[in-house]
Amino acid sequence: MKKSIGSNKLRTAVFISGKGSNFKNLIDYSFKKNSIIEIKAVVSNNSKAKGLKFAYKYNIKRKVLSFKNRNQDENETLKFLNKNKIDLICLAGFMRVLSKQFIKKFSGKILNIHPSLLPKYKGLNTHERVMENNEKFSGCTVHLVSPKLDSGKIILQKKVRILKSDNPNKLAKKILKQEHFLYPRAIKKLFINL
Ligand code: GRF
Repeated sequence: MKKSIGSNKLRTAVFISGKGSNFKNLIDYSFKKNSIIEIKAVVSNNSKAKGLKFAYKYNIKRKVLSFKNRNQDENETLKFLNKNKIDLICLAGFMRVLSKQFIKKFSGKILNIHPSLLPKYKGLNTHERVMENNEKFSGCTVHLVSPKLDSGKIILQKKVRILKSDNPNKLAKKILKQEHFLYPRAIKKLFINL
């Protein structure tokens, strides 16, 4: 993939549905001197997503659509992304599945972060399922988005040990911390092969 450094940073859109801690983390990374991205837009399917406050704070363009009519809302999203010359999409807690056609338009340029060691525990409620199965480790994965849910090429993973004292909530918090460590590194790995 084309290198993108210096003034030629990757124009990035982050897709969120909730808290947006990964969104905020990517904003912080984008301000670092040697960052290879700039956050130019945010898309949310939820007008009440807490993470949207970061878009106001940092003056980032927003698009809020329910994605209930997926075709129509994806088309609107594509127009918005093209208008803002977006090169890279980072899904960060985005609770909608994108269509094959949409993914094709940004082929190799949509990343997702998932709170498990994929290919294990795809889908929702990962921490509950991990703990029910008495796993010793869980973690998080940054992967390319493909039409099959949580199944695209894995870019980077981080393992987290599960303690006896953990519960799904505690584990989610520990993993989220590692997600913040992982996402910027995965972007660097994908685009400049650090
Ligand atoms: C993260 O755990 C992410 O892996 C999952 O949803 C959560 C989003 O958290 N897909 P936040 O909105 O970035 O705080």
